[in-house]
Amino acid sequence: MTTIHLADWLNARIDRAREEPVYRQLLEAMQQAILTGQLASGAKLPSSRMLAADISVARNTVLHVYEQLTAEGYVTSTTGSGTYVADTAPNDRAAVRKPQEPADETPRKPCLISKRGARLIAHAGVAPKQWGAFMPGVPDVAEFPSRTWSRLQSRLWKRASPDLLTYAPGGGYRPLRRALSDYLRVARSVKCTPDQIIITTGIHQSIDLAVRLLTDSGDRAWVEEPCYWGVRSVLQASGLTLVPVPVDEEGLNPSARDMAAPPRIALVTPSHQYPLGMVMSLARRRALLEFARQHGVWIIEDDYDSEFRYRSRPLSSLQGLDDAGQVIYVGSLGKMMFPGLRMGYMVVPENLVDTFRTGVAELYREGQLMQQAVMTEFILDGHLTSHVRRMRGLYDERRQLLIDAIGAHFGETLAVRGDEAGLHFVLELPGNASDRAITDDALASGVVTRPLTHYYMNQEDARRGLMLGYACVPNAEIAPAFAKLAGVIERALSAVEAGS
Ligand SMILES: Cc1ncc(COP(=O)(O)O)c(C=O)c1O
Repeated sequence: MTTIHLADWLNARIDRAREEPVYRQLLEAMQQAILTGQLASGAKLPSSRMLAADISVARNTVLHVYEQLTAEGYVTSTTGSGTYVADTAPNDRAAVRKPQEPADETPRKPCLISKRGARLIAHAGVAPKQWGAFMPGVPDVAEFPSRTWSRLQSRLWKRASPDLLTYAPGGGYRPLRRALSDYLRVARSVKCTPDQIIITTGIHQSIDLAVRLLTDSGDRAWVEEPCYWGVRSVLQASGLTLVPVPVDEEGLNPSARDMAAPPRIALVTPSHQYPLGMVMSLARRRALLEFARQHGVWIIEDDYDSEFRYRSRPLSSLQGLDDAGQVIYVGSLGKMMFPGLRMGYMVVPENLVDTFRTGVAELYREGQLMQQAVMTEFILDGHLTSHVRRMRGLYDERRQLLIDAIGAHFGETLAVRGDEAGLHFVLELPGNASDRAITDDALASGVVTRPLTHYYMNQEDARRGLMLGYACVPNAEIAPAFAKLAGVIERALSAVEAGS
């Protein structure tokens, strides 16, 4: 491009009516000219005086642009000899072919994501909508005492000490760990000291950390069949080989074949099996602990929602029965508080405390100490207990309203299971109904559910059903929302009957 052409080219690109300063427009236009090869490497740029006159800008503007181009490596300038376009084009020699490789006419596209990445995305379960009837696993965040939280927060921020504004030392804010260990000892019979508590961003992160520290890629991991898809994703992404182990009315029920090949790690939800809702019996708990002790299996106990139990007191935690230090207990504050808080905890055996404290700091560079300090005050002032108590009453009412609505539409024909605890239950469907098609149709009419089959690894054994979350649905909306869903279910069931 000659000087005159360069000036024309730049003039066509500089628009003085635009808000963007002329300096920036000129800089970007010159960068583009170099990157696209319009200004070839080695070409001499016009003097700043000449270019300024040709495109009618101040000479200083051009000087600044040349300086910036030099600083960013687009041009090189030598005093007295002028400014030249630098040679920055990618070198063909960079793509050196090994001699034995045949010349390939069509350049091979690199695979964008890894195999495990592709598997994760293909089986992803995260829903686009995280709120409304009947989204499972979500508490009523509109009921959260945000004014109390905001008052505690502003009080703490007024005297924010520097050590609360930096990275968290391994394990998290000590007073919160103390408050949680007191709470877990009393409420869940967890045997622990504050040192054994590690604060995380929730159960997902706790499991990720445990898996990274305790397993190697290719190790076997037992998961309940069915189980929470999020946990499955975390394990799969770590390269573990997942072994689905069936559950029955007493919880995890491994076959002799399963037991013959002990896993490195086993993930269980003993208090309220996710998603079906049964409680693991004491006999099964003891059998699992003994098996773990004999074969050096790590057990991860996911106690995600045991605070919301409606008819009976929860059984003590599995961790509380463990004398061999094989259980890692994980819990979340997301269901008691609000999911967006992203705060959870894990209780690790004493001999692993240092490993986990170092691991959490090394991998995730934890922080959020101010948030943890606010959480501590919230617990110590009694707000957590009273909020959970109030929510338990409210969710129990909603649970009953939804059961009534189901009864009004379907009588005894469709059973509800797992409604003793938690924020959801399962509405069972006949084996020939497609819970996935019903879920899609329900979403089109504005109602969220989750197909039970989605939680199974082996589809042949999957029971059909819909996961219905009631906690985040205002009382008055439950019956009308279920009427919509019932319409979808009725149409699907009559289509199945007509076809059979
Ligand atoms: C069984 C189970 N574990 C863990 C979680 C997620 O916990 P967190 O939000 O603390 O990562 C959920 C969420 O619904 C769950 O159902």
